[in-house]
Amino acid sequence: MVARLVKDGVYTVGSIDWNERRFHGYTYVTKRGVTYNSYLILDKKITLIDMVRKGFEKELIDNIKTVIEPSKIDTIIINHIEPDHSGSFPEILKLCPNAKIYGTEKARQGLLKYYGVSGDWIAVKSGQSLNIGVRTLDFIDVPMIHWPDSMFTYSGYDKILFSNDGFGQHYATNEIFDDEVNFAALMDEAQKYYANILWPFSALVSSKIAAINKLNNGIELIAPSHGLVWRKHISEIMQKYLYWSSHSCKNRVAVVYETMWESTEKMARKIVEGVTSEGVDAVLFDVTKNDRTDIASYMLDTKGWIFGSSTHNSEMLPAMAGFLHFLKGSKAKKRKSFAFGSYGWSGEAIKDIEDTVSNVTSFDSSLRVIFNPTDGELNKCFEAGKAFALKIKNEK
Ligand code: FEO
Repeated sequence: MVARLVKDGVYTVGSIDWNERRFHGYTYVTKRGVTYNSYLILDKKITLIDMVRKGFEKELIDNIKTVIEPSKIDTIIINHIEPDHSGSFPEILKLCPNAKIYGTEKARQGLLKYYGVSGDWIAVKSGQSLNIGVRTLDFIDVPMIHWPDSMFTYSGYDKILFSNDGFGQHYATNEIFDDEVNFAALMDEAQKYYANILWPFSALVSSKIAAINKLNNGIELIAPSHGLVWRKHISEIMQKYLYWSSHSCKNRVAVVYETMWESTEKMARKIVEGVTSEGVDAVLFDVTKNDRTDIASYMLDTKGWIFGSSTHNSEMLPAMAGFLHFLKGSKAKKRKSFAFGSYGWSGEAIKDIEDTVSNVTSFDSSLRVIFNPTDGELNKCFEAGKAFALKIKNEK
């Protein structure tokens, strides 16, 4: 690849990880792959903003070389130290050992812990700026969006916000800008990204959006470190971030279940029938056949959460347990739930479900069936779904 122009004097020089399918260890399924975006600004001081993960450093260096020799880099800005952005830092530092490095103090501490090097570090925080020639770069702390070290960098001259993980999407493509790819697919990836990376930090997101909206020169481009640069749809993605971070929900239902001998599954299907009979949309997710990433994305703005599991060794089933522990960390609000399941002799799964996610949703009923549900019991499942749909529609 080569360096590609984002705006006069500003290049994207990162790499495309076409085949990454399990990001963040095993937590995030990236069906469209991933990009690690890095930006190079040619000004009086040559400036590199963020880098790529280990294994992609050669691609980064080769891309930079299509514009300048990496040894000419005067300034490196590290908005965030997670290894997908900082893994190549030690190699880059070897090529430009005299570069000044800018980032938060927490970023410096983290880099030392990861790599044993931090270079000639200048700790910065909100309110501080760096002049690199015609440009002055402003730093904006965004701690816990999504790590303690995180910050954004803003170039008022270019009207570009370099937002690192903020506004990212996992979308491997040769295109650079949001209007060069399918909009629905882009927003689908943006929602998935928010649900799987930023959801727990929603309270902080809304306050930072307010700060971003006050940036003196406005924003013409949002250049994240994953995916496409926002150019045409800045207002849409800002509105979406405000919507997601406010815990707003659609009046719809996700029925997530795990079954051993199809009894819990039969119950799940009848519950969905009951919900939809009231004109409320419902989607059925077998947690063993759907990626947690996709289920979480749907649940991000879904008001009704219904969970089902058979009981196994006095517990809910293990795939459901894994999913609910993930969901527990979302710090979601304004949800309504009930739990259901088939059991053989003790039936602890329902209480197990309720105990696990009671911090993010409220349960007000449950439904248990011994062994295989009878027609009468399936009818109860239908009625439970119907009653739940009415609550979803009628309660604020
Ligand atoms: Fe893309 Fe938090 O790293």
